[in-house]
Amino acid sequence: MSSKSLKPIIIAIDGYSSTGKSTMAKALAQKIGYRYVDTGAMYRAVTLLAMQNGFIAADGSVDETSLIAALPATTIDFAVTPAGQRTLLNGSDVEAQIRGMEVSAHVSTIAAIAAVRRDLVDRQRAYGEQKGIVMDGRDIGTTVFPSAELKIFVNAPAAVRATRRFKELTAQGRQTTYEEVLANVEHRDLIDTTRAESPLRRAADAIDLDNSLMTIDEQNDWLIAQYEKAAGRD
Ligand code: DC
Repeated sequence: MSSKSLKPIIIAIDGYSSTGKSTMAKALAQKIGYRYVDTGAMYRAVTLLAMQNGFIAADGSVDETSLIAALPATTIDFAVTPAGQRTLLNGSDVEAQIRGMEVSAHVSTIAAIAAVRRDLVDRQRAYGEQKGIVMDGRDIGTTVFPSAELKIFVNAPAAVRATRRFKELTAQGRQTTYEEVLANVEHRDLIDTTRAESPLRRAADAIDLDNSLMTIDEQNDWLIAQYEKAAGRD
């Protein structure tokens, strides 16, 4: 089926951390000519903003009032470059910083703040106005776009996800251990699923994907087939 004959839709890809959601969402968007929005990067950028401004104390507590006051003047954008999509915080490329362990250690706490979520959800909805978008995160199919035409919920066991993430981080030359990465993955799962404000949960109409035993190519082919089915329906 040619993608030209298909109607533009919203594709929501949710799931646990380090399931490879971003990799598959990005590949799909590129293949079908859709815009890709990584909402995790947006929560990471706000976390970096809080760190840069001293809003996170040594004990990990957050000065929420100051952080919330800083949000209206804060811009978060995505730039498409030959090195791939880069996250810009107030115009500066922060892609490398937001992927580090320090941001990862605080991001779930920041993402649990209701006012931060409201601010970012508004920004995410604005991206989807024209449809033709692939968005990945935790609450895209439940909260951001409950009527998205295609919703995928990705999962894999924590040990599988930690192994993938550990390989990724060490390949980037970052100093960490498998145990540290596994602890971070499990800690984020717990906070993401138990927070009061839009916790991570599967939308009732989502399609499940456990990609533990799938190659990237198999996963990409599976996703394209789901897209063609969803976009072909009136
Ligand atoms: O997908 P990621 O690991 O880059 O996400 C970083 C954190 O942001 C993760 O702990 C959960 C949170 N997040 C969220 O709460 N809602 C989203 N839509 C996306 C991410």
